[in-house]
Amino acid sequence: MRSQQIWRPARVIAAEEIAEDIRQITFAVDGFHGAFDPGSHTNIKVSIKGVPAIRTYTVVPSAAGTLAIAVKLHPNSRGGSAFIWQLQVGDRTEMTEPENRFELSWRAEHYLLIAGGIGITPIYGMAKALAARGRPLKLLYAARRRDAMAFASDLQSLLGERLATFAQDEGQTLNLQEAFADLPSDTEAYVCGPLALLDAAKAAWIASGRPISRFRYEVFGDSGLFPEESFTVSVQGLDLSVDVRPDQTMLEALEEAGVPMIHDCRRGECGLCAVKIVSATAPLDHRDVFFSEEERQHDPRICACVSRARGGQLVIDTGYVSESVSMRPMGDQLTHA
Ligand code: FES
Repeated sequence: MRSQQIWRPARVIAAEEIAEDIRQITFAVDGFHGAFDPGSHTNIKVSIKGVPAIRTYTVVPSAAGTLAIAVKLHPNSRGGSAFIWQLQVGDRTEMTEPENRFELSWRAEHYLLIAGGIGITPIYGMAKALAARGRPLKLLYAARRRDAMAFASDLQSLLGERLATFAQDEGQTLNLQEAFADLPSDTEAYVCGPLALLDAAKAAWIASGRPISRFRYEVFGDSGLFPEESFTVSVQGLDLSVDVRPDQTMLEALEEAGVPMIHDCRRGECGLCAVKIVSATAPLDHRDVFFSEEERQHDPRICACVSRARGGQLVIDTGYVSESVSMRPMGDQLTHA
């Protein structure tokens, strides 16, 4: 189950490295003439080791009628960023029209934007939109290396002193407690970056006494604590054991095996794909933002679209009743009676 998507043929019209390990690809998209809100994302059909897959990326500001994405070549990539990186002008794929689950509310008087690394992609569009409408904003942009800060010079020209950058290779660190201390009370924060940044920002926001309803965030689906490893999933009630490769998610592997799965965002946000962990022989790597840290301590569920295990074997309960599921031969789809 996914939200309604309109797939359109797309052709690469520009590809360039805009920062260290970050490549921007611009597509001409057949039949797409619309605008999109900052924070929107698109789904792209990719091929990973010859196997079709879908990956989701934020769309960054680009000329009318085009869609552009900026993608970091991730050392632990499950294959999506490697596919995007090898695209050349003239190559073709399919993309969905942009959807937005990380929207600016436009209700606040003041905005604080925080980006960690490639998390700048939705924040960049937000900064441009807020600045264009004359809304008070501040952008805090942190990255491991200054050379890896995409859009930094454009943002510097646009925002001037409203932009603060923090390059770890220059010994600069973002102090979230300080950042939140003097904010006007009607400030809304928008944060995008790795899971560790989100967790720290959320904790500091709450500690500052600000309402969590004014804290909005997005996380990378592949942002985990550990590198991807293979593991095996057995589905309780089904005589089925599925290998999950490092370059695929548990949800993808279960779908490939024909296990009926409910899902929507595939980004660890909606919780629809959550499955119950019955047993695990290895530590879990929670990569969702749906469950709070406290819930993870007590709730045996895990979001199959992003979270995984550090090797070993999981036994899961998908919530389906085995008697109502029959398997067709040769790996065809399971049917739910
Ligand atoms: S599909 Fe939304 S959290 Fe997995």
